[in-house]
Amino acid sequence: MIYPIVKYGDPVLERKGDSIMEFDTPELNGFLEDMFESMYAAKGVGLAAPQIGFSRRIAVIDCSLGEDPAQKIVLINPQIIAVEGKQKGEEGCLSIPGFREDVTRGKKVTVRAQTAKGETFEMTGEDLLARAFQHETDHLHGRLYISHISALKRDLIRRAVRKKVKAGEWT
Ligand code: NI
Repeated sequence: MIYPIVKYGDPVLERKGDSIMEFDTPELNGFLEDMFESMYAAKGVGLAAPQIGFSRRIAVIDCSLGEDPAQKIVLINPQIIAVEGKQKGEEGCLSIPGFREDVTRGKKVTVRAQTAKGETFEMTGEDLLARAFQHETDHLHGRLYISHISALKRDLIRRAVRKKVKAGEWT
């Protein structure tokens, strides 16, 4: 099932997600399938559960946009455990469509998370994957990428979004 993407302004995006305690259930496996489907439909490289309205600590990533099944990553209850170096680059978010800003992130990042079966693993990514680890883990803490840009730029985006909401262009 493809869920619509929740847009900036919805409180679920700024709420800390609940940890997942039950693994390897048909409900969880089905939900993960829905997350990948929803992410591919929206043409994103990452999606966090709050972005489809569920306050749960689950994110999916696929830097190949569905081209290479080997690049599908499921992160359940993830935490960033190591960050090396810095990268500056444009970042956007499916929940804030039409906007992109430069964000400085770690260049090489290690995440610790659980699989759908509940096994703990660690994975290190660089560049785009490192950025995705940080962006998606942030989502599960109720943090959006615009919290990493200047207050001035964030305010410009907020005002532009408010206009779109008024015009009925933000649903
Ligand atoms: Ni996002």
